[in-house]
Amino acid sequence: MKTQNSSLELSHFPVMLSEVVKISSPNSGGLFVDCTFGGGGYSKAILQFPDTKVIALDRDKSVISIANKLEKKFKDRFKFYQIKFSQIDKILKNDVDTIIFDLGISSIQLKDLKRGFSFNSKEELDMSMGLSNISAQEVINSFSETQLKLIIKTFGEERDASKIAKNIAKARLIKKITRVDELVEIIEKSKKKIF
Ligand SMILES: C[S@@+](CC[C@H](N)C(=O)[O-])C[C@H]1O[C@@H](n2cnc3c(N)ncnc32)[C@H](O)[C@@H]1O
Repeated sequence: MKTQNSSLELSHFPVMLSEVVKISSPNSGGLFVDCTFGGGGYSKAILQFPDTKVIALDRDKSVISIANKLEKKFKDRFKFYQIKFSQIDKILKNDVDTIIFDLGISSIQLKDLKRGFSFNSKEELDMSMGLSNISAQEVINSFSETQLKLIIKTFGEERDASKIAKNIAKARLIKKITRVDELVEIIEKSKKKIF
């Protein structure tokens, strides 16, 4: 029986899939750990090889429905945990053959404007991937200018980090920054024009 893919699954295409399958040799079987399950592209591709087992993790609860379908289809070969990969030692007791990390944001997260990851969003500044106890709104409004500069520079690799942090600190004195589009406006104004 063929199972239908939901629009959630169809909205994400894993990059590097063929390269990962090639170097991890699932045709020889083995135990695989997909540390960043997302839309499940890697897990699904590996499960096509009959002698494989996959343990998948993701912090994002929105992908549980995709994982549930795989758990039904591959009862003894697939198991999903909604945990952070830093907690991997809690679920792995034996040796594994391959561990996969597909780091970054998924298009499932980006396209859901309510989550606040996209520059096109006018929703609340959330940006949580799941299992977080702080939102982007709290960070933007309560962290010091120096802390914000460090975050924007280090994780955003943004050369105008100083200016952006300064303008955030200025803007929040006038009004709390609560929506994505408000932050986007501050960033756009802060960016140097390069011609
Ligand atoms: C680029 S996507 C992975 C896409 C996936 N390979 C696929 O085929 O659809 C990255 C995923 O990693 C998850 N993630 C990010 N940080 C994580 C962490 N610390 N622990 C577990 N999952 C994490 C995100 O929630 C996201 O779903």
